[in-house]
Amino acid sequence: MVGFRKGSSIVQNLDSYPSLAVRKIRVLSDGGLSAVANVFPHASHISPEYRHAFFGHRPSTLWLTGLSGAGKSTIAYALERLLLEKGQACCVLDGDNMRNHLSSDLGFTDRDRKENIRRTAEVARLMNDAGMLVITALISPYREDRAMARALIGADKFVEVHVSTTREVCEARDPKGLYAKARAGKIASFTGVSSPYESPLSAQITINTGMLAVEDATAVLFNHLADDFFHPKVA
Ligand code: ADX
Repeated sequence: MVGFRKGSSIVQNLDSYPSLAVRKIRVLSDGGLSAVANVFPHASHISPEYRHAFFGHRPSTLWLTGLSGAGKSTIAYALERLLLEKGQACCVLDGDNMRNHLSSDLGFTDRDRKENIRRTAEVARLMNDAGMLVITALISPYREDRAMARALIGADKFVEVHVSTTREVCEARDPKGLYAKARAGKIASFTGVSSPYESPLSAQITINTGMLAVEDATAVLFNHLADDFFHPKVA
C-alpha cells in the first residue's frame, strides 16, 4: 500500500533542471561530434517530490564494492528482499548480471571495468530518477571509477558500502572456483590476485562478512536507508 503526501506537486518546475539547458558536446575519436550535440532531453511531468511521496522514500544507490567472494551479491539480494517485504521499491544491479547483458562486450582491463562501472552508474541514475532504491554489487576496484559513479549518480544519493571481507577469507570461500583458476594462471588480471583492489578511504558503511552474518549486515544497510532516505507514509 503506497501513500501519497498530500499537496505534493505532480508537475515539476523545469527551471529546476538546469542540466537540460547544457549541451554536452564531446569530440569522438573519429573527429566527429558525439550525438549529444544534437539531442534534446525531455523532462518528465512527474516531480521528484511526487515520486518521493509515491514510493515513501528518497531514491538512493547503495554502491557495494569489494573483492569477488566478499558477499556483495548475497547481501544485495537479501536487502532487496527485505526492502520489498517492507514495501520499498528497489532493485539490484549485480556485476555478473550486468556482464551477461548490457556489459557483455566488456572484459576486465582497467578501461573495460571503467566502462562497466559507468554503464551501471548510468542505469542506477535512471532508476533513481524513476524513484527506486538501487543496490549495486560490483567489485569496482578503483577509487577513481567509484568517484565517477558517485558523480554520475549524485553525491546526495550515493552511499558507498565497503564489503571489506579479506582476500584470505574470499579466497578460502572461492564460491566460483575463480581464485584457484587465477592462481593457476588461467584467469588474467584477477582482482586481489593479479589485479589491484583499492579500498575506499571514506566509505559511509563498512561490512566484513567474515565477522558479520548476512542478516546482520542486511539490517545495518536497511537501518541506514530507513534513517536517511525513508519518510513516514501518509495514509
Ligand atoms: S568490475 O571490476 O567491473 O567491477 P564486476 O563486479 O562487474 O567487476 O565483475 C566481477 C565478477 O566477474 C566476479 O565476481 C567474477 O565472477 C567475474 N570475473 C571474471 N574474471 C574476473 C577478473 N579477472 N577479475 C575479477 N572478477 C572476474
